[in-house]
Formats: sequence, C-alpha cells, structure tokens
Amino acid sequence: MSFLDIDNVSFTYPGWPPVVRAVDWRIDEGEFHCLVGRSGCGKTTLLKLAAGLLQPDTGRIRLRGRQLLAPGPQLGFVFQSPTLLDWHRVIDNVLLPVSLQHPPTPEEIDQARQLLELLGLADYSGHFPRQLSGGQQSRVALARALVLEPALLLMDEPFAALDAITRGELQDDLLQMCSLRRTTVLFVTHDIAEAVYLGDRVAVMDRGRIVENMEVDVGKPRLPALRYGASFNRHCERVRAAMDLATA
Ligand SMILES: Nc1ncnc2c1ncn2[C@@H]1O[C@H](COP(=O)(O)OP(=O)(O)O)[C@@H](O)[C@H]1O
Ligand SMILES: [Mg+2]
Repeated sequence: MSFLDIDNVSFTYPGWPPVVRAVDWRIDEGEFHCLVGRSGCGKTTLLKLAAGLLQPDTGRIRLRGRQLLAPGPQLGFVFQSPTLLDWHRVIDNVLLPVSLQHPPTPEEIDQARQLLELLGLADYSGHFPRQLSGGQQSRVALARALVLEPALLLMDEPFAALDAITRGELQDDLLQMCSLRRTTVLFVTHDIAEAVYLGDRVAVMDRGRIVENMEVDVGKPRLPALRYGASFNRHCERVRAAMDLATA
C-alpha cells in the first residue's frame, strides 16, 4: 500500500463538465511528486481532493490506508499567494496552525524560530509581512505549512510569482527541508524545469486526466549546476513532449 493512494478519482463541479477524470496516482512515503499541466486542466482541483477539501464523486483517496474525509494536522497546504495575516508578526504567522488549536508552548515557539532560521529569516521574526520581500513572504508561508510537521505537504504553484533567482533559492531550501524531515510532497506547477528539478516523479495532466507519470533520474541531492546539464534538459523535453502530445 502506498502512502497516498488516489484511486480512480473523478470530480465534477455541479452543472459543469468533469474536471478530474479517473485519476490514479500513488505516492510513496518521502517521495516528491510534481504535477504539471496547462492552466485550467484541473491541477488545483486535484490538490484540493488530495487535501480532503473536496470529496471525489467516484473513486477513493487514502492517506496511510485511511480514507481522507477532511483536512487535518497531517497535511500542510501552501497556496500560490502567501496568504499571510498582515496584522500578525512573522513568528505569529508561522505559529498560526498551532494557535488555532491552543496557545503555543515554549517548545512550539522554539520550533517556529528554528524553521525561520533554516529559511534564512532568523532576524525577521518580529517583522510584519508588509516589511518583507515576496520571496521572504513565501518562506514564511512555507514555515507555517511545516510547523505542525505534516506528513504530506501539498503545494499549489507556490513560487509562481517570484523572480527566477529567488525561485531557484526557494526550490533548494524546500528540497533540503523536505529531505531532512522525510516529508512527502505533491507540488503543482506549470513550470516544466521547476517540476524536473524538484520531482522524483513528474506527472502531466491534461483536461482532467493524468496522461504521463515519469521518473526523474538526474541524481540526488539536486545541485543548481544540474539545471544546465544534458540529462536535465532531456527530461524537460520529455515532459514538454507529453504536454504537446496531449494537446495535439
Ligand atoms: N468552484 C468552481 N466551480 C465551477 N468550475 C470550477 C470551479 N473551480 C474551478 N472550476 C473549473 O474547473 C477547471 C479546472 O480548474 P482548476 O482545478 O483550478 O485548474 P488549474 O489549477 O489546472 O488551473 C477550470 O475549467 C475551472 O474553470
Ligand atoms: Mg490552479
């Protein structure tokens, strides 16, 4: 049995054509899977199904063998925009998932500080979100998603709004944090190079279906120089070809 098991899942918003069609997907513990596809193909909907925010019309989603009926602390979610609370300081934004349950303990506050330090934000815990750059805000959103140590992290184009250099830095930070904690990740992007750099596997979605699910075999840990290598580019070409074939 896989860690996350998406089994023949379909979903339709009432009154509209099906958005997710007969999707099968298995993710083993500690793996990093990316999902790429054109805008509107159903990526966000599939991620919401995997989070338990939506329920499938047919099929089943199981996390560690148990059917997923609602989101819980075992899941972290990072959205496209950082969605921080402007009136809370950075440390309180990171601690939000904790403070929604109980007043944070000194250990939990310490844990949040450590996350900020790992993400290069040690000196910013007392700042407000508006005092941070876009990349720093994205890091705070990542720390917030990790503070409850979720077993599964779901990310919906979290770095899409960032410049290429900042995005590359965040990709490296994300890989490091997830391999340290053996977090299982499902990461949605429309950036092929980002998918290949991050993913152990890359799935391609087209009009609600998974049309390709390929292994990425370019060596670990990922090093930035890899992005200019022949093997990396061959993988990008294969993903691109799967996307073009699907649309043809
Ligand atoms: N709440 C909704 N009600 C009706 N249709 C929706 C809703 N949310 C998304 N859709 C439609 O479902 C399709 C897939 O959307 P989405 O999952 O957001 O795609 P993606 O994330 O790949 O851009 C789109 O055609 C979109 O218009
Ligand atoms: Mg989307």
